[in-house]
Amino acid sequence: MAERFAEEKKAALAHFEKLLDEQLARAERIKGVKEFTDYEKLDKIIIGVCGGDGIGPYISAVSRDVLEYMLKEEIAAGKIELRNIDGLTIENRAAVGKAIPDDVMEELKACHVILKGPTTTPRQGDPWPNIESANVAMRKELDLFANMRPVKIPALGIDWTFFRENTEGGYAVGSKGIKVNDELAMDFVVTTTEGTERIAKLAFEYAKNNGYDRVDIVTKANVIKTTDGKFLNICKEIAKDYPDIAVDDWYIDIMTAKLVDEKRRRDFKVMILPNLYGDILTDEAAEIQGGVGTAGSANIGKRYAMFEAIHGSAPRMVNEGRAAYADPCSMLRATVMLLRHIGKIEKAEKLDKALDICMFEEAKVKITGRPDGATSAEFAEYLKSKI
Ligand code: IPM
Ligand code: MG
Repeated sequence: MAERFAEEKKAALAHFEKLLDEQLARAERIKGVKEFTDYEKLDKIIIGVCGGDGIGPYISAVSRDVLEYMLKEEIAAGKIELRNIDGLTIENRAAVGKAIPDDVMEELKACHVILKGPTTTPRQGDPWPNIESANVAMRKELDLFANMRPVKIPALGIDWTFFRENTEGGYAVGSKGIKVNDELAMDFVVTTTEGTERIAKLAFEYAKNNGYDRVDIVTKANVIKTTDGKFLNICKEIAKDYPDIAVDDWYIDIMTAKLVDEKRRRDFKVMILPNLYGDILTDEAAEIQGGVGTAGSANIGKRYAMFEAIHGSAPRMVNEGRAAYADPCSMLRATVMLLRHIGKIEKAEKLDKALDICMFEEAKVKITGRPDGATSAEFAEYLKSKI
């Protein structure tokens, strides 16, 4: 037996050793970054607007338009710059065989915050090479460790904020698993102390600063014992610094069920989850809110932050000629989060309110994703009239 697989084992071990070296180096590196960017101290905040592909450029244009409208004075005074970043398209990425082409990465790194449209992630059977998702690559490269995703339905008393760990878990080496031989493939889950402490602290600070008295930790630590177990233990440890906040822990399966339990779901406020569970649970939550097209998402790191829709690039809409009818609300909610993040709290609240009016309260201009509804540009005009 040992003889028979000697070559495969050798190759797999060499591959694994490389992954280990990379992750050990990363674990050290992330410990070195202590402070968050202080936007007040910057002479000029550079906001990169990166359209992505598919419906991305259409819905990002709406957000850019709204930002230009709301930040007119700051832009005129040179305090804020909106900078277009093109080139993050699947065609360009496929041409260079990289999740993010080097020149685009350089442009991204020259910004302070980024508003990003959806990007196509190649999947099996696509004509594209199997490159890594641009989202995942950007989160890793800019170390955007916290994926904050709010879901609110005031009429039902639902007010959830998910803090999804964004650089580790099943995603850290998600595109670098080991195909040992034709029979056996293995992927890996990564949890580091610093990686868990920083997401837990951010979630508890958020709860404290926004008057939430409860935080729920969601894992599958009963089965994925080593990595999820570590994640859960560290979150509980951090919780001790917040004695006024009640803490409970749940397994992802039952939490998925509880989000549709009308009697219980209002109790949840702030939730902390490892990467993959956060990915799945936030789609479910967004669907409860009215669809993934309604939810925005903040990817927060200490140096950079990136704001995006939680959905994909909807190539089908483009192929069917319906891109101009795409719902821009997810990107607009992300724009609210961006404004809040750079300290423009009042403007963020204004845009948020206007969105509530246009999406729920008055909802005079309806987006359906098809020519029987409004275009995203028409929606933008309606929205601006309510800001
Ligand atoms: C998300 C998306 C991404 C993810 C995909 C596009 C790789 O689903 O932002 O939730 O899995 O994180
Ligand atoms: Mg997702």
